[in-house]
Amino acid sequence: MEELHNFKNEALALITEAKSKQELEDLKVKFLGRKGEVNKFLQNLTQLPPEEKKRFGQLLNQTKQALEQAIARKESSLVSQQETKLDWFDITRPGKKPPQGNLHLITQAIEEISTIFEKIGFIRVRYPEVEWDWYAFESLNMPKDHPARDEWETFFVDTQENKKWGKMVLTPHTSSGQIREMQRLKKPPIRMVNIAKCHRRQHDVTHTVMFHQFEGLVVDKNISIAHLKGTTDYFASQFYGPQRKTRLRPFNFKFTEPSFEIDINCPLCLGKGCRTCKSGWHELGGAGMVHPNVLKAVNIDPEKYSGFAFGWGVERSYLMKEDLKIDDLRTIYSNDLRFLKQF
Ligand code: PHE
Repeated sequence: MEELHNFKNEALALITEAKSKQELEDLKVKFLGRKGEVNKFLQNLTQLPPEEKKRFGQLLNQTKQALEQAIARKESSLVSQQETKLDWFDITRPGKKPPQGNLHLITQAIEEISTIFEKIGFIRVRYPEVEWDWYAFESLNMPKDHPARDEWETFFVDTQENKKWGKMVLTPHTSSGQIREMQRLKKPPIRMVNIAKCHRRQHDVTHTVMFHQFEGLVVDKNISIAHLKGTTDYFASQFYGPQRKTRLRPFNFKFTEPSFEIDINCPLCLGKGCRTCKSGWHELGGAGMVHPNVLKAVNIDPEKYSGFAFGWGVERSYLMKEDLKIDDLRTIYSNDLRFLKQF
């Protein structure tokens, strides 16, 4: 009985390891052929006492069946392997090129913007896209119910209010990242660029509900408007070309004082004024010197430190660069490959 068991196991192992049809055929003859091993066991059967005959006969039958099945299975797998091999080895066949994707145009723009600022020592960060009211507004010098908040057409998340931080919002601008970064580093020097998704309740040809902003923040000793202007000019020349520069136009934000809108000179007349731009300038985005109350909100002493900040839309900045004349900004997020493949 034991011998038969061992034979069965060894034979099955040899069958599964067979490398070719010929090898398998030889094994088949060796095990199941007329003078094969199975038949040899069968001859032994006659010499056994009747009570053992039955058990031995059953095991022999099982063994035979198991070997037959294993051989059949191996046969078909060798056949299919051979077929696919032939297929693969047609070296004259031209290769199949996998379709190649490309990064979304806004992802490309974000990478370019990060690189520009990283070159002058800004650290790229990315802060939450779902945020507390305190970070999005209150710490930025916009107390509850302040009318200035209206400009940020905010989405509120329908969830429980936090006792300390207030309601939960979808970040309406990246300025909350100023607060997060100052809290993270605790004290200056700070030089960050925060690029993240923003959401506002606006949806038309020039707005998508979701868009991106990049926010710059520098806080240190003796930081002045000259540093702000130097930085925005640097960005303009790097992102738009050597002849482009910015100008500051007085504006009002609660979290900066003084505040500005940053304009960039027209690519055609470079600021003189022409038929397309009229004034010579195009609006880029907001900026200003960090308001003392904002510094105080994160325990930075406004007597010792000062800073500047700016926050612009990525989509808007990018479209101005390429002069794409896209009629509907929503096309960018429509997932139409015919459009997206062009970038
Ligand atoms: N957060 C402002 C906006 O969304 C832009 C801004 C950023 C203004 C930083 C001043 C300083 O319009």
